[in-house]
Amino acid sequence: MYLPQLLARAEKGEKLSVLTCYDASFARLLVDNGIDVLLVGDSLGMTVQGHDTTLPVTLENMIYHTEAVARGATNKAFVVADLPFGSYQKSPEQAFDAAARLMAAGANMVKLEGGSIMIDSVGFLSQRGIPVCSHLGLLPQSVNLTGFRAQARDARAATQLLQDASNLEQAGAQMLVLESIPSVLAEEVTQHLGIPTIGIGAGPHCNGQVLVLQDLLGLTPKPPRFAKNFMQDTGNLAAAIQAYVNAVKAGEFPAPEHSF
Ligand code: KIV
Repeated sequence: MYLPQLLARAEKGEKLSVLTCYDASFARLLVDNGIDVLLVGDSLGMTVQGHDTTLPVTLENMIYHTEAVARGATNKAFVVADLPFGSYQKSPEQAFDAAARLMAAGANMVKLEGGSIMIDSVGFLSQRGIPVCSHLGLLPQSVNLTGFRAQARDARAATQLLQDASNLEQAGAQMLVLESIPSVLAEEVTQHLGIPTIGIGAGPHCNGQVLVLQDLLGLTPKPPRFAKNFMQDTGNLAAAIQAYVNAVKAGEFPAPEHSF
């Protein structure tokens, strides 16, 4: 699927359902059960490789998993691949070289973490044919600075995040992940921007929701507070994924107890 088809869904007011995905069999399952976007997240460093953070994930790892997911998705879902830590922060040129390899591996868009500091890179990529998803709020690649904690909880940080979101959109970002920020701030950003916002731990008002697949399947020993185990009530993989898609599309996930 290409970007215009995805954006058309969001423009119609349809909430976008997004799940992380790291291999071909899950890609097939997710596509067959109605997921709009497969995110080859660098969370694979934690879910697949067993690390404590995403930092050890390499570009080669991301290429390998993106190729597998793209084969399974057979163009029926939109594939977003994360630029891993150290593959893009140095310069727009470095970001382009890494992003081009992910696009060649089958991604339809790349995602990169960061606000104002990433504006030049977002512009550089989007002007050269690479759709970009930005990522604000809790930035797992900056965990050594922030810890895994909710972000933008005071007025100054909230104003900065809103400004960053607007600048990234102007630079050419076509989608924005908002992670672990107050629901009211995510709502304000969503109202302010013309591009879709995808929330994770950011309340119900975003244009779409993303979850880590292992959290949804109840496989994470200590899941984040905002996650929901959809296997509990359904008991099988296909039904769990369908329940997630239905809950996102109906605006029923996240419920208030999964937001702050
Ligand atoms: O890597 C990932 O899974 C992500 C999501 C948490 C948005 O970036």
